[in-house]
Amino acid sequence: MHAPNPSAPVYSDTVVRQFALMSVVWGVVGMLVGVIIASQLAWPDLNFGIPWLSYGRLRPLHTNAVIFAFGGCALMATSFHVVQRTCQVRLFAPALASFVFWGWQAVIVAAAVSLPLGYTTGKEYAELEWPIDILITLVWVAYAIVFFGTVGIRKVRHIYVANWFYGAFIIAVALLHVVNSAEIPAGWMKSYSAYAGVQDAMVQWWYGHNAVGFFLTAGFLGMMYYYVPKQAGRPVYSYRLSIVHFWALIFVYMWAGPHHLHYTALPDWTQSIGMVFSLILLAPSWGGMINGVMTLSGAWHKLRTDPILRFLIVSLSFYGMATFEGPMMSIKTVNALSHYTDWTIGHVHAGALGWVGLISMGSLYYLIPRMYGRTEMFSVKAIELHFWMSTVGIVLYIAAMWIAGVMQGLMWRALNADGTLTYTFVESVKATYPYYVVRLLGGVLYLGGMLIMAWNVWMTVISGFSKPSPIPQHALAPA
Ligand code: HEM
Ligand code: HEM
Repeated sequence: MHAPNPSAPVYSDTVVRQFALMSVVWGVVGMLVGVIIASQLAWPDLNFGIPWLSYGRLRPLHTNAVIFAFGGCALMATSFHVVQRTCQVRLFAPALASFVFWGWQAVIVAAAVSLPLGYTTGKEYAELEWPIDILITLVWVAYAIVFFGTVGIRKVRHIYVANWFYGAFIIAVALLHVVNSAEIPAGWMKSYSAYAGVQDAMVQWWYGHNAVGFFLTAGFLGMMYYYVPKQAGRPVYSYRLSIVHFWALIFVYMWAGPHHLHYTALPDWTQSIGMVFSLILLAPSWGGMINGVMTLSGAWHKLRTDPILRFLIVSLSFYGMATFEGPMMSIKTVNALSHYTDWTIGHVHAGALGWVGLISMGSLYYLIPRMYGRTEMFSVKAIELHFWMSTVGIVLYIAAMWIAGVMQGLMWRALNADGTLTYTFVESVKATYPYYVVRLLGGVLYLGGMLIMAWNVWMTVISGFSKPSPIPQHALAPA
């Protein structure tokens, strides 16, 4: 009889590797499109008169690529990694997990082709037409079966808190997608929403805000609860707080959507409910952020030397910033100034570049070397450089947008003594030009950092299994 092979893989990690690598690839693509549209806002001629390069088509391509392709692949890679380690079992139905990977890539490619061609439902963050919506539903159901199936066959009694957040993300996104995408087909790539008028707007922003709450927040909090303690080498600051954090966050998010529709045809009381729940949302958001940051108690010194930990902790600072700013912007009188201005874009990217981007990068830097038989990335110096480029890039981006946004809001409401407008709209556009250039500079730095990451990941992969690992494979497997 053969002795058990200690280097036999304990977990099914092929799909983790695939999603992790594609997250980096789609990150580069999505951010490149971001840089292109940022340039077009500064110099509109850059669409060269070609319809599929026009701003209106590339903008949804950017949002879909960064949220669903970059963010989505990072969420799927890390959720499949975390659920196996915390449940101490292999993935349930690995073949179905493979379908999730290929199906999700098919959705992304379909989006990358159909959006520049001009096919869109016109609903923000839900632009894809009905045949792609059906594919998304199939992939998502398969994802849920693999994830919850793995939780179901776990070898430990307890379900670790990261899985609660990933689980809520999976269930909520299924619900949001199915309800908001209810539509009547009128051709292969054309449909009409099942809802009309103000109900359509209400359903759309119930979806839109919870896409922020569950796609861009809950799943990434799952990352926080696993990778911050791992990288810091400390247990979660307060497990009890994590449970309160979970239930409070998922309950409150669901009601905040109407803050996207202030001063519209939506009934006034609905808008007020959205505002009040947004203000309440500050508490669970900051509770979670504090829980993540305080996990560093006794390990603060590691921040000085560990760039991965810096990615993770700085992401939490941006999370705190965006979740303070959001409730403020939901106050009707503040929204009267901020709405339609670049202030919103600044807020979005504090959350998107600062929170979603940095936490994903930090988690991938932890995960990728371990998936390729190494203890760390090929170049730690390159991680350091990436960290500084992205942090400076974010600061340039969001500071430019804040100043531009407040300036636009004030210019639009300025009145002369006789009640006429002080500025024409075009004057406000002209005044914004320098800020658009600064934002572009920030975006180029952020994209540059991502390209360095792609190189570092590539070098890690090719030098991974081919070189003898400094520690034995069987010791690496359950890491
Ligand atoms: C190199 C990095 C990036 C650049 C240069 C960039 C640039 C832009 C630009 C120019 C817009 C359009 C703004 C407007 O219409 O006025 C935009 C919108 C948006 N971007 Fe980015 N972006 C980047 C990265 C990201 C990332 C990583 C995410 C998400 C994880 C993201 C999420 C969004 C969202 C959600 C919007 C729509 C905002 C809204 O409608 O209010 N972006 N981005
Ligand atoms: C307590 C948490 C938060 C609250 C209460 C909140 C509130 C708001 C408000 C009031 C707006 C402006 C709506 C408008 O005038 O049109 C907004 C826009 C937005 N926020 Fe937040 N926010 C929060 C956190 C976040 C985070 C963490 C992210 C990203 C990861 C984010 C992403 C966005 C996006 C993408 C939009 C633009 C939506 C659009 O018009 O396309 N928010 N948020």
